[in-house]
Amino acid sequence: MTINRPIVAVYPGSFDPVTLGHEDVVRRTLRFCDRLVVGVARSSTQSKRPLFEVSERLEIMKEVFAGDDRVECVTFSGLLVEFARSVGARFIIRGLRAVSDFDYEFQMAQMNRELWHDVETLFLTPDVHYSFLSASLVREVASLGGDVSAFVSPAVLERMRHRFSDRAPG
Ligand code: PNS
Repeated sequence: MTINRPIVAVYPGSFDPVTLGHEDVVRRTLRFCDRLVVGVARSSTQSKRPLFEVSERLEIMKEVFAGDDRVECVTFSGLLVEFARSVGARFIIRGLRAVSDFDYEFQMAQMNRELWHDVETLFLTPDVHYSFLSASLVREVASLGGDVSAFVSPAVLERMRHRFSDRAPG
């Protein structure tokens, strides 16, 4: 017997900041998923110096996805699989841009499966226009005064402008 349960997925990441590539992955996920919980991680496996505090990243995410009530944005700490379980999700969404992403993503997917055998990691490729795009490049370009308006939503751009105008040059 098949029981039709809503498909719930989590999309975890640092999202510092959320880029149009991330937004594209969210849109693609909503083609097959009933509810998507975007999880802004309080700590990442690859430690990076953050541009935005986690609370600010969450605010930005909520602003960006305000138009779709199937998307819920929250922060999480601790293990990703525990977070997924706590929101009733058996699917983890990750974007895969290029072969260079594969090693890290493959390791995480396998480890997460070791930690929770029923979890499935689904990799989505963003639109080819975003295949080179990463939050770290956006941070770097913006910090050096470059125009990142083609890579992030207006809500993000606004915050970035404020952030970098706050900072003393040098
Ligand atoms: O955007 P990022 O920084 O590549 O996202 C990495 C993230 C947050 C998904 C990863 O670091 C993570 O899952 N962190 C939660 C802690 C955890 O479960 N670690 C074990 C992963 S195998």
